[in-house]
Amino acid sequence: MKKIVIAGGTGFLGTSIATYFAGAGTEVVILTRGVPGEKNNTNATEAPPPLAGIRLVLWDALTLGDWTKEIYGADILINLCGKTVNCRYTRKNRQAIINSRIVPTQLLGAAIQNCTRPPKLWINASSATIYRHAMDKPQDELTGETEDNFSVQVCKQWEEAFFRMRTPFTRKVALRMAITLGSGGILKPYFNLVKWGLGGRQGSGKQMYSWVHIEDTCRIIAWLLEQKEMEGVYNCSSPEPVSNDIFMKTIRKHTGHFCGLPLFTWMLKLGAAIAGSEPELVLKSRWVVPTKLTASGFAFKYTSLDDAVQNIVANTAHKQYHLF
Ligand SMILES: NC(=O)c1ccc[n+]([C@@H]2O[C@H](COP(=O)([O-])OP(=O)(O)OC[C@H]3O[C@@H](n4cnc5c(N)ncnc54)[C@H](OP(=O)(O)O)[C@@H]3O)[C@@H](O)[C@H]2O)c1
Repeated sequence: MKKIVIAGGTGFLGTSIATYFAGAGTEVVILTRGVPGEKNNTNATEAPPPLAGIRLVLWDALTLGDWTKEIYGADILINLCGKTVNCRYTRKNRQAIINSRIVPTQLLGAAIQNCTRPPKLWINASSATIYRHAMDKPQDELTGETEDNFSVQVCKQWEEAFFRMRTPFTRKVALRMAITLGSGGILKPYFNLVKWGLGGRQGSGKQMYSWVHIEDTCRIIAWLLEQKEMEGVYNCSSPEPVSNDIFMKTIRKHTGHFCGLPLFTWMLKLGAAIAGSEPELVLKSRWVVPTKLTASGFAFKYTSLDDAVQNIVANTAHKQYHLF
């Protein structure tokens, strides 16, 4: 039986990945700072369903402790820790966003270094937002360009901390994740927008939207374990990104909303200020393609956004995207 340990696995990605692998008969351990549902937990957002094969183990994400024995002999250690970036980038939040990614990365690296039978593979989350705002051409691992703003700097520091940890017996992959689509996560606010008639294009609608279906993310993790020569950085995004305009049209089509009011740039800026978020999350053009994954022979199940959204909507309760 295989074993996967997921640090920060109580969120959207971790819950979905844990469910996928536990369903395939893998032993899954989630490292969490608070057991979801318990009084003392103020952090965890989504609890994994009570599936056989998923165990929650407490850690503080700051110090080595009893939890380290869970990584002994594991096949994969996945690190998904990080404070949500869906907040205002105040000085305090910036520091928390950086620390919540770098500190657990260094801690997991130290645990691997101390382990006599370390995990075969360590996958650390990174983000496709590491590339610049690109309206002219797609960005990939080989020729992609970065820029000097906060979100790019977060990803760079996160990856630097990861690759700085020397783990000679554990292969390392930084997965630059595009916006991951599944039941829950980022689609929730989009479903709310279409529900209230606001599902038109956002800003110019020309900014590119790189996405990946959560099932493909899980399949990529399994693929990385099998392909023992794969290490370094990989873009975890579907090979067919779309514009924001097409993205919104696709969501409307599959949720049965035939029109939606556009949200102009000034509205998004105002809305983000009121909601305590950053307009960049919607307005940045993320045009990212998975050159290295495709070259490795990985075949995506969902290359078309149309198929991906159709599949997700079919598994989502009607009331999430309709008022009545
Ligand atoms: N979802 C996407 O589309 C996407 C795209 C690109 C990159 N990513 C990155 O992938 C990771 C997981 O994404 P997600 O959508 O699953 O996020 P999420 O739902 O917000 O979950 C993040 C997890 O990180 C843990 N965490 C939060 N603050 C922490 C801290 N200070 N120290 C240690 N752990 C902390 C939490 O676990 P506990 O509270 O249980 O400890 C939480 O379950 C994030 O780092 C995110 O930036 C996600």
